[in-house]
Amino acid sequence: MTETNADHNDSYPPTTEFAAAANADVSLYERAAADREGFWAEQAQRLHWHQPFTQVLDWTDAPVATWFGGGQLNVAYNCLDRHVIDGHGDQVAIHFEGEPGDTRALTYAELLAEVSRAANYLTQLGLVAGDRVAIYMPMIPEAIIAILACARLGLTHSVVFAGFSPTALRQRIDDAQARLVITTDGQWRRGTPAPLKDAVDQALTTDDAPHTVEHVLVVRRTGIEVPWTENRDLWWHDTIAHASPTHQAQPFDAEHPLFILYTSGTTGKPKGILHTSGGYLTQTSYTHHTVFDHKPDTDIYWCTADIGWITGHSYIVYGPLSNRVTQVVYEGTPNFPDEHRHFQIIEKYGVTLYYTAPTLIRTFMKWGRQIPDTHDLTSLRLLGSVGEPINPEAWRWYRDVIGAGTTPIVDTWWQTETGAIMISPLPGVTATKPGAAMTPLPGISAQVVDEEGTPVRHGETEANGYLVLDQPWPSMLRGIWGDMDRYRETYWTRYADQGWYFAGDGAKLDTDGDLWILGRVDDVMNISGHRISTAEVESALVAHPAVAEAAVVGATDPTTGQGIVAFVILTADATDTGQALITELKAQVSTQISPIARPRDIHIVPELPKTRSGKIMRRLLRDVAEGRQLGDTSTLVDPTVFESIARG
Ligand code: WT7
Repeated sequence: MTETNADHNDSYPPTTEFAAAANADVSLYERAAADREGFWAEQAQRLHWHQPFTQVLDWTDAPVATWFGGGQLNVAYNCLDRHVIDGHGDQVAIHFEGEPGDTRALTYAELLAEVSRAANYLTQLGLVAGDRVAIYMPMIPEAIIAILACARLGLTHSVVFAGFSPTALRQRIDDAQARLVITTDGQWRRGTPAPLKDAVDQALTTDDAPHTVEHVLVVRRTGIEVPWTENRDLWWHDTIAHASPTHQAQPFDAEHPLFILYTSGTTGKPKGILHTSGGYLTQTSYTHHTVFDHKPDTDIYWCTADIGWITGHSYIVYGPLSNRVTQVVYEGTPNFPDEHRHFQIIEKYGVTLYYTAPTLIRTFMKWGRQIPDTHDLTSLRLLGSVGEPINPEAWRWYRDVIGAGTTPIVDTWWQTETGAIMISPLPGVTATKPGAAMTPLPGISAQVVDEEGTPVRHGETEANGYLVLDQPWPSMLRGIWGDMDRYRETYWTRYADQGWYFAGDGAKLDTDGDLWILGRVDDVMNISGHRISTAEVESALVAHPAVAEAAVVGATDPTTGQGIVAFVILTADATDTGQALITELKAQVSTQISPIARPRDIHIVPELPKTRSGKIMRRLLRDVAEGRQLGDTSTLVDPTVFESIARG
């Protein structure tokens, strides 16, 4: 993962053929710069509005924006009904590929019927617009149906990644006060069914404390036995499957809450990021159209994310379906039954647009090019990357080996909070550089600034700083659920004078002024593109009776981007101090949070490096974890602490 300055001169202009047929052209930048709000009003016309909006943006209540005020729409209608009405009912919306090899194709007409059944039944259950519904499901069509049924009824969904623990699920159910949980009996994991409904039962019985859940709706996916609570638990196939397949969608205000999605912050408590309807759908639709150059009549699109993350929300469900996509939805892991799986799927469906994460690209590299080389991948015409910085070496491999040395690559920077892509090349327009997110999209404004907010100046040398968004954007978060103080505090106080959004990422401008994302500058780690807070892992560790104190850092990892490295101090009465304890502590984090938060290394140490104000010096621990020479230790209370850590 070495990056040299030479990389900056390495530029890949679009081919004339691609540029000639591209959805985007350079005039978008000019039009957006001349009249930003007019530009977004134009993009909003991609959608069907039951009631046209009267004001594009109201920012008087900053940092809470109102986009498309006065407008009313139904998000699900925009993703389904209008395509059917326009005569595309027979177009396949979803090519589902199950992990065990089962497949299912759903046309827009069928998807609309399924979503309508679900909407009718949820209404029958007494759910009304504004209620919250937790969705805890693997990657199966019913997950998308459940999401769209909520959107159709104005129910605010909270999708919880099916890899999360019962504790994490319960925390999210309680925070959002969900009335309903939608789940499956189990999920396929490398050929074996693993229980999932069990986790919901555990979540709901924790401490026997009261919860807000009235029903648990269960899809049968694996056929495994599940415990059953009469009256509370309902089978999807006994209920929704028998409901009427027609349903009239009602319009909701542009600012109606669409979903909450929890993400890690710098404290142990996850933040419920709130997204609303009109602006969110406008920007996800616009970016999916321009950044992926999506053509509804010919493209086969595949985004490999899970619906448990924002990428699944914005680039599997809302953006793509609003654009009448035909897409692949794959349930399983990339190496089941073997490492050929993704390439077989690309070949089988003739995937043209493929969107994945750098961690997977690096895994493919490790497996070797002989695997993709045995497949016909010539259908691919564009590749996307998201979730973490893509190192130039992986970028080139992606383009050469997967993209036959010809496809454009879009490295897309955005966040759960931004809702949609913000910084990315435009295919057919931008000459891309391996590893650079390049420039803010038309309609988006970002800057790289120093601590004081002064824009850094690139020239003959590149310049580093912090990434800020200095103008509101349609798909921006509208707050943190139940905690607007934390919303202001987290994103809007650092550059309060300027009124800018602080993204939490470091960035640099190269000598051409193009933007490179450098990674988080706060206590948030990025493991395989998943956001995990150091505090969350630390609190899972100290919950173990043998641990007195813990400090966690993200250390550079060749495959996962970062790996979690923990330093723990044991309590005086800890008896086991060896490998068995370390294994137990790793398991503890897995069950408390999720297997993705499992530490790569745990070091038992006698002391932790602290400043005089008692703050753990994570920077120094990162040096230790990465085997580097120690940085400045002058602010430490006890600079000799590292000798004891080394001995420990
Ligand atoms: C953080 C947001 C956006 C969906 C997936 C992650 C990092 C995201 C890139 C990129 C470099 C990136 C940032 C950001 N990140 N995309 N193209 N290049 N870094 O969403 O979980 O909200 O995480 O992911 O650090 O702040 P998320």
